[in-house]
Amino acid sequence: MIDRILAKRIVPVVVLDRVESAEPLAEALLEGGLDIMEITFRTAAAEESIRRIAARFPEILLGAGTLLEKEQVRRARDAGAVFGLAPGLNPAIIASAKEIGLQFSPGVMTPSDVEQALSLGCELLKFFPAEVAGGVDMLKALAGPYGHTGVRFIPTGGVSSGNLSAYLKLPVVAAIGGSWMVDKQLVNDGKWAEITRITREALAAAAEAR
Ligand code: 3PG
Repeated sequence: MIDRILAKRIVPVVVLDRVESAEPLAEALLEGGLDIMEITFRTAAAEESIRRIAARFPEILLGAGTLLEKEQVRRARDAGAVFGLAPGLNPAIIASAKEIGLQFSPGVMTPSDVEQALSLGCELLKFFPAEVAGGVDMLKALAGPYGHTGVRFIPTGGVSSGNLSAYLKLPVVAAIGGSWMVDKQLVNDGKWAEITRITREALAAAAEAR
């Protein structure tokens, strides 16, 4: 599964206000060439949106983001998510994910966070909030002492088409995450063709950064 995240190298971070947007959004991303999504547990629509997408688009690698409570980890998995993420590192959430076998990436921002994540058995980590936490330079610095451990990052927060290639050129970066191609306004306005266009553009930029 991690290989599939690595293959596309872009994780769209989705905030859905309406369940009705879930399937057309999934179609728009697929049309643009992206078969991976992170649906954030920030809205009431998250769980049912995951359920609908998982049922209709089994080809999509479906993640649940913003998992802040243990209960959400189980609900996300039961709805059909196959991986989970959070903005921070919460040992209780990591333990819950491990218990039910859900691949989980906690958020980290400091060397201490990285060490704690590694000691809890997590190697694919969300680096959040990427741009304000030092961006590419910070990741280069973290790669020094931790590159040999196998740790890999998904920088998210302030990443978009303008800076994604700088991140993806770093060997320590597995993929980048971002909301720009699934901008809430575009989703709420049903601008599916525009989402497809931005997605294609992002994938082309990511491919060039290889
Ligand atoms: C988030 O969890 O909201 C992500 O970090 C998205 O950040 P972005 O909107 O800057 O891409």
